[in-house]
Amino acid sequence: MVAIVPSTTSLVRLAEAAAHCRACELYANATQTVFGAGPKSARVMMVGEQPGDVEDRRGEPFVGPAGKLLDRAMVDAGLNRDDVYLTNAVKHFRWKSTGGKRRIHQKPDASHITACRPWLAAELTAVRPGVVVVLGAVAAAAVFGPAFRLTQHRGQRLDWPADGPLGDAGESVEYVVTTLHPSAVLRGGDNRAAMYDAFVADLCLAVG
Ligand code: URA
Repeated sequence: MVAIVPSTTSLVRLAEAAAHCRACELYANATQTVFGAGPKSARVMMVGEQPGDVEDRRGEPFVGPAGKLLDRAMVDAGLNRDDVYLTNAVKHFRWKSTGGKRRIHQKPDASHITACRPWLAAELTAVRPGVVVVLGAVAAAAVFGPAFRLTQHRGQRLDWPADGPLGDAGESVEYVVTTLHPSAVLRGGDNRAAMYDAFVADLCLAVG
């Protein structure tokens, strides 16, 4: 199955259509599609991995623990969340059960990234951001393709990959900044403070 994306730049219509997406099997175990959120006029678009447990229940991106850290980092970088369009490479929560009530996050496969990419392309075409912030390796694979190595390109302003998998959907983009996923910072243990500072520095680079 391929995603059936309506030909529109209305974010409302795109979100309504994405709610019925069956382009991969993830919809079957998820509560709902979590489409991107934020103003159509946003200059900055941030792309995460996939909704987590809290996002899956609430239907909004970045409202769980990783979202709280991202909120704090945005404030520290001088960004207002209300001015940013937040979305994910994959729009259904992929999880596995351990037998109890807890749902354990599972990283999306390349097939899920590919199946969901038309929605990301539609969001880029609708919002026409000047800056894209890529949060983590899954988002980097969605934007640049699977060979991209996040560790080699952190802390730089990169050109939009016009010959990449999203092609000219990003034609408005002046530059891309790739950085850690906020969940990686949360899991940073003894390095957490340093990772947080580096994360904020990357966001500052994105804001310009
Ligand atoms: N992690 C993500 O990548 N996206 C969310 O929306 C929440 C957690």
